[in-house]
Amino acid sequence: MYEEADVTALAQLPFEQASLLEPAPRLRALQAQGPIHKIRTATGDQAWLVTGYEQVRRLLADPRLGRSHPDPCSAARTGESVLFGGPLGSYETEDADHARMRSLLQPHFTPGRMRALRPRVDALTNGLLDKLDRHDRPADLVEAVAVPLPVLVICELLGVPYQDRSRFRAWTRDVADVRDRARSERGLADLFGYGRQLVARKREHPGDDVISRLCATGGADDDEIAMLSMFLLFAGHETTVVAIGMGALMLLTNPRQRQALRDDPGMIPAAVEEMLRAPGTGGGGIPRYARADLLISGVRVRAGDLVLLDNGAANHDATMFPEPDRFDITRQAASHLTFGHGPRYCIGAPLARIELQAVFSQLIPRFPGMRLAVPAEHLTLNTGMLTAGLARLPVTW
Ligand code: HEM
Repeated sequence: MYEEADVTALAQLPFEQASLLEPAPRLRALQAQGPIHKIRTATGDQAWLVTGYEQVRRLLADPRLGRSHPDPCSAARTGESVLFGGPLGSYETEDADHARMRSLLQPHFTPGRMRALRPRVDALTNGLLDKLDRHDRPADLVEAVAVPLPVLVICELLGVPYQDRSRFRAWTRDVADVRDRARSERGLADLFGYGRQLVARKREHPGDDVISRLCATGGADDDEIAMLSMFLLFAGHETTVVAIGMGALMLLTNPRQRQALRDDPGMIPAAVEEMLRAPGTGGGGIPRYARADLLISGVRVRAGDLVLLDNGAANHDATMFPEPDRFDITRQAASHLTFGHGPRYCIGAPLARIELQAVFSQLIPRFPGMRLAVPAEHLTLNTGMLTAGLARLPVTW
């Protein structure tokens, strides 16, 4: 059990990473001590950080943990982001609200609908790689592929005009600011206002897209559709941008594995799972609030406490993934927790997988000589963001 004296010595998030490709040393040290730790978040609040694979997976599916809090103003926070820094939604109606959100969104992400999207994602990827081929060297792979592909795909899926991308990307980045609450709130208001305009337009001129289909669903009003659509716009692109960038970095720093994929493209789906599992992490993970007193691996957690289910740390738990810091496309990586687990499992996971598979199945054969144009140690992350991906990935070929 934790003693009061421990409080001053608590580890504080975010943990500093020595390398982009490995978990933070502090996180690794904590993980070696056990599966749950009292820590301080970036805002100085106390929270529990769960780092064991088995515990994170189990707690992600445990109904005694939720996203809301009975007294949101007094709740511990992870950061200033208005959507993800603290409690979300109504404590009384959380389960019903969540069930409704999933029932409205799930029909648009069925395996059949996702399969139908694959040829279009392949074609969009092909177009971006054609453009890259004509680009002067070095080129920035984040700007050339990792950003535009997920943005193009989510725009087509939702029926959002691609020419609006710089505006909505700026707002989603504002929302995701973990340090500046006012900026995050402004971003959310701008994004919601934009969503309202889109919904009004789709009511007038419906198209073959998710927003139009949501409008045609009985019982959902304009505000709810605007909110759901903007949530999808937010959840559906920045995460995938980060995953494509980190996946490319893994391959560029592991030429033998890239060669293996060139020799056997049938390994691409497994390699994508490893790209999703392997990136290093600075700690944090998926926030939840305890809805009851809990005992987690012998540690007493009180109702209302903030519990961070660190899926990145879980993906580096050596009892589940031997030699976890080694990038190995032949390992069984598909049980990673990058998309969460349980009732809130990522609705867009099949789409993200299609995008990653499209990128790497084409990039590898088309650019066999691609290499980093700067030493890997010079690469930096977009810090201060909820989804902190590579700032740039300069490559040549
Ligand atoms: C590599 C890319 C992605 C990653 C790493 C990712 C990760 C996650 C994670 C960890 C969760 C669970 C959050 C929780 O338990 O509280 C989640 C939920 C969600 N994701 Fe994704 N995601 C990705 C791509 C996408 C895409 C492309 C879409 C949509 C087009 C999407 C839509 C959603 C939605 C709607 C939820 C909420 C599910 C719920 O609360 O029931 N995601 N995502």
